[in-house]
Amino acid sequence: MSAPRLRLGVNIDHVATVRNARGGALPDPVRAALMAIEAGADGITAHLREDRRHIRDDDMARIRREISKPLNFEMAATDQMLDIALRTRPHAACLVPEKRTERTTEGGLDVIGGHDHLVPFVDELKRGGIRVSLFIEPSIDAIDAARSIGAPVVELHTGAWCHALELGELDRADREFGRIRVGAARAAQIGVECHAGHGLDFDTARKIAGLPQIVELNIGHFLIGEAIFIGLGEAIRKMRVAMDEGRVHAG
Ligand code: PXP
Repeated sequence: MSAPRLRLGVNIDHVATVRNARGGALPDPVRAALMAIEAGADGITAHLREDRRHIRDDDMARIRREISKPLNFEMAATDQMLDIALRTRPHAACLVPEKRTERTTEGGLDVIGGHDHLVPFVDELKRGGIRVSLFIEPSIDAIDAARSIGAPVVELHTGAWCHALELGELDRADREFGRIRVGAARAAQIGVECHAGHGLDFDTARKIAGLPQIVELNIGHFLIGEAIFIGLGEAIRKMRVAMDEGRVHAG
């Protein structure tokens, strides 16, 4: 049986980061979202952080209104974000851990320690018609915990794998990729849809596309960085090609 098509979610947070560096209205993340869709993105991801360092409330509302593809609303599991998500009604919400001092989402959600808080939280989002995913470490325990919380989807954190490759630590990278491979298989085995993301580039996206249980990648920083050199549309088209090449070998 051939692997299902691999969807690409484009994270446009860092268009807002550049805008906010000057405090004006440009570059507009909504324009980037529309351009990403035109270039082949299957959905748009945006993270409304507590400190609003990139995406702001009004961006999220405009993205929801103006794009024709699914919006994946990344958020911390707080009452304020729950309220905004239920009002925004995105297609999906991805729950992530958030620390004020971090530069980006470090590590996965604590789905074991946070179980009792997350069960009613996930339930409220689901009752609001929102598909919930939990951003977690690629470990069997975390995947099993996510299922026991009632999440239909997990997003496996690929940051440790990508970071090891960046440092040239190939043995560690192999071990990290092994955890992702085993994790994706576990998710499929227990009926949880599997996504992945964080730190992916053309090469890592091509490689991870070979795991047939993974059905969606969420990619931001690399694509926005590439856009400086080759344009956003071209960066996304090249990413799509890399993913399709990798998918041919899925199995
Ligand atoms: N998925 C999640 C849950 C994230 O928090 C992020 C970073 O915001 C990404 C994917 C995208 O990571 P990157 O920007 O490194 O591609």
